[in-house]
Amino acid sequence: MKKKIRAGALISGGGTNLQAIIDAAAQGRIDVDLVVVGADNPEARGLERAARAGIETFVVDYKSIIGQVKKARDKASPPDDFNLEEIRKKQHLIPESAGGQKLEQFLISRAIAERALLDKILPHRVDLVILAGFMRTLTPYFIDRINIDQQRIINIHPALLPAFPGTDGYGDTFRYGCRVGGCTVHFVDYGEDTGPILGQRAFAIEENDTLEAVKKKGLELEWELYPECIQDFARKILG
Ligand code: GRF
Repeated sequence: MKKKIRAGALISGGGTNLQAIIDAAAQGRIDVDLVVVGADNPEARGLERAARAGIETFVVDYKSIIGQVKKARDKASPPDDFNLEEIRKKQHLIPESAGGQKLEQFLISRAIAERALLDKILPHRVDLVILAGFMRTLTPYFIDRINIDQQRIINIHPALLPAFPGTDGYGDTFRYGCRVGGCTVHFVDYGEDTGPILGQRAFAIEENDTLEAVKKKGLELEWELYPECIQDFARKILG
């Protein structure tokens, strides 16, 4: 049997990138066994795509975890191996100037959620964690527990990084009046959309293109680019 890497994916929404990866694996275009798919909310429609493909799924309900920490910060118990000072120093997601308490609450709630993600993902001994429209930033607490020996978390971003990081890459590209848009696959590091770039694809934005047209052009390229970058990673691991 052909050797494959083991991968887990995290999603938040419709999961069209997830579907592209499921299809690429089924057609033998990528040497990947997608063994688990998780979401940050129970409504993520991509969960059905995973279930249909016979892949184990789980949900870590970020909204409810964040709400609980906000309501009763004193009662929130972060994981035993969580060191607030260490994570606070490493992370580049929220500036210290945002205020100690706000940052502390953010890091504690995320560590609780990320511990739950790890408990679901680590038993599968994955080589790669694929963020496929996962709309949550990951803190060093999670990243360090996946990247034991090398970078193993990748993300797809809807803009040509380093331009337009954040949650609305196509919207930001369109509103700026760019004549070229694109998408980027990158490793996840301690910042937001700042990790080393693995691949990019660009498209022209024509005079009459609407935001919807831009999103459509971009997504179609994402579905090509993501499996290609995943296969590059797999090839390096498999040798
Ligand atoms: C994609 O545009 C991706 O770049 C961004 O979120 C969107 C997810 O779409 N991070 P889907 O859930 O894969 O359909």
